[in-house]
This record gives sequence, C-alpha cells and structure tokens, in this order.
Amino acid sequence: MISRRAMLAGAAAMLAPHTATAASRAAPTLAEAAADAGIIYGASIDQQAFANPAYADLYRRETRILTTDVAMKFDWIRPVQERFEFSFADAILEAARVNGKLLRGHTLIWNDNAPDWLKRLSRREVERVFDEHIDRVVERYAGKLHSWDVVNEPFWPMDRQSGGWRNGPWYAAMGPSYVERAFRRVAAIDKTAHLTLNEAQCDNDHEWGRSIRPLLAGLVERLRDSGAPLHAIGLQSHLQPQWPADYPAFADYIGRLGDKGLEIYISEFDINDQSLPDDVAARDAAVAAVCSQFLNAVLRVPAVKMVVNWQLSDRYSWYRDVQRRLAPLSPRLPRPLPFDEGLQSKPMRAAMLASLAMRRSQQAPPRP
Ligand code: XIL
Repeated sequence: MISRRAMLAGAAAMLAPHTATAASRAAPTLAEAAADAGIIYGASIDQQAFANPAYADLYRRETRILTTDVAMKFDWIRPVQERFEFSFADAILEAARVNGKLLRGHTLIWNDNAPDWLKRLSRREVERVFDEHIDRVVERYAGKLHSWDVVNEPFWPMDRQSGGWRNGPWYAAMGPSYVERAFRRVAAIDKTAHLTLNEAQCDNDHEWGRSIRPLLAGLVERLRDSGAPLHAIGLQSHLQPQWPADYPAFADYIGRLGDKGLEIYISEFDINDQSLPDDVAARDAAVAAVCSQFLNAVLRVPAVKMVVNWQLSDRYSWYRDVQRRLAPLSPRLPRPLPFDEGLQSKPMRAAMLASLAMRRSQQAPPRP
C-alpha cells in the first residue's frame, strides 16, 4: 500500500488545472464536451493515480469531477474501532483542490464492506457508531465536496429481507429508518453538498433491475413526502450487456425521478464486456455501441447533470480485480472503460463524445 507521504507528494505533483486552448476545443476532452452539453464529467479515483503520473495526467486533462473510489468507504476510514483513517481521502481532496476539480464523496453509509469489528457490536452500539461516523466525516469535509453519496445501494433483494432492503449492520440495527436518519444528520452539518442516494442495477431488465427500480422509486417518494434533504439520485450504471435492457425505458424512469425536482447522476458508468467477442477490436466496437445506445437515451433527460466513469483506464477497472480473484489464469482482460491499459483513447471515448455532442445540439437554441 502506498504511504501517506507518497500520496501527498503525488497529489501535490498533479499539475495546475487544464485550460482549454483553441486547438483543444477542436478536439475536446470528455470534460469539455460534457461541459458544452451541460454535464459534469468525471471518474472515480484512488491512490493508483498517485503512483502513475501518466494516469494522474489523464484525470487532469479529461475530468471535471473526481469520485473517491474506496478512500471514503467506511472500512477505509474505520479499519479499526480505535481511530479514524483520513489520510487517503485527504490526499484525494488535496489533489482535487490543487487541480481545480470538484469532488464527490463516496460513500458515507453502505451496508456492504463492513469491517469485522462493526459486525460484533450490539444494535445500540452500531447506532452510536453510525451517528459518530456521520458527524466526524461530514464535519471534516463540510463545504469541500460537490456531493455526498449519503447512502449507497439501499436495496439488494438477493439478501431476502422484507421490502428488498440490503442487509448489513446499519439495516440490522435500525431497519429502513437508517436512510432518512443519515440524510437528516448530514444536512445538519454540510450545507452545500448535493446529498445523493446512489443505487445499482436499475439500468438492466434482469430480475435485479426489474425488482430494484420500483423499490428505489418508492423510497424516493417517501423521502420527498417526509421532507428529507435529498437532492440527487445516483444511478451507478455498471452496464451488463449479457442481460436484457431497455435504455429508453430506463431514461423514462430516471426522467420521472427528475420530475420530483432531483438531479440525476450517472455515477459509476462502465460496461461489463464479459459476453462480448474475444477479439479486442470487435469487443471495443461492441462496448462503444452499447455506450452509444445507453448515453443517447439517458442524455436526452434534462435532469441528468453528471456522468462519472468508474476509473478511466481498463487497467484500473474493478472488473480486473474481480477477474484476478475469480479467473486469475484467463488471458482475456476486461475492457469496460474509455481508455485502454496504455491510457490510449478507445472507441468508447469517441462514442461518449458523440453522445455528448448530440445532447449539446438538442440543447442549442432554435435558429431564428
Ligand atoms: C468497488 C471498488 O472499485 C473496488 O476497488 C472494491 O474492491 C469494491 O468496490 N458499486 C459501488 C462501488 O458503489 O463502491 C464499487 O466499487 C463498485 C460497485
């Protein structure tokens, strides 16, 4: 693991903010093309970007917003009960500040990834840790974040809880009320971050997506009715082309969430290529085609204000970690992102630029 000093040095070494030149406008970056279309574009980041200067430079050029990939997750901030470990998140905050990037905090409360010490506590102690965690973490970063994923993945029907809730320490201790409790507690401390409910799977028509969509819509309705401080919905959008999907219907769904006065963020976008051809050129073309179908549908929705990739380069995709665990000998490496392992642009990036240009042309005022 990279040391705190190396991370801070790496963060400081990231160069000054990129300013667009006429030449770069002719070939816009993803951040520039997105800005022209009224979209904030970015990617998740962790300490690998500090260990690889070329990767850091790619973030500097291509993104406007960063999301903490792992650094603000509970198990990173509270690996042991006795202390808070803020150094990883602080280093990313500093890199964002030095480079003039916005930062999204991901994620304050999630029933996944609980450290063992938390699982051993009584319900009452879990509630105390919950409140203390929100207070300490949100106070530290208050006023510095564009948005907070306050709650991640509230639903996971595969956990077989009534109401489809994802099981884990927070849910087990408090039941569904933990969600509203988290939003109200964060809002009492941070007055500027867009408070976001982030959810998985809704983009697919597999039984997971079909079951989670109405559950999420119901929760949003209840939070709005109760006056909870909810500003945005994050749809992760880890697309699964091996499953059925109807992206125009998904766009209608997020449009209806947007109609409730909420911003919509495509918050963890990538494309699982496991069912696509082995041949790299054919696979990259297929990924780009799925990307176009998806973005052409969702970018028509005015409430969509942000697109964030989960990392930028295939080399650092979480799907590669998954594969290293499940199929370490496979010669076929996942290619789910807009840049390849050599940090070169892929057809997916061209597809993203084209969809962003389409959104921009739809927004352009009619010619007289
Ligand atoms: C992933 C990280 O990228 C991995 O490094 C980690 O091992 C597991 O979590 N949905 C989420 C993200 O909300 O937090 C997950 O990130 C990917 C799925």
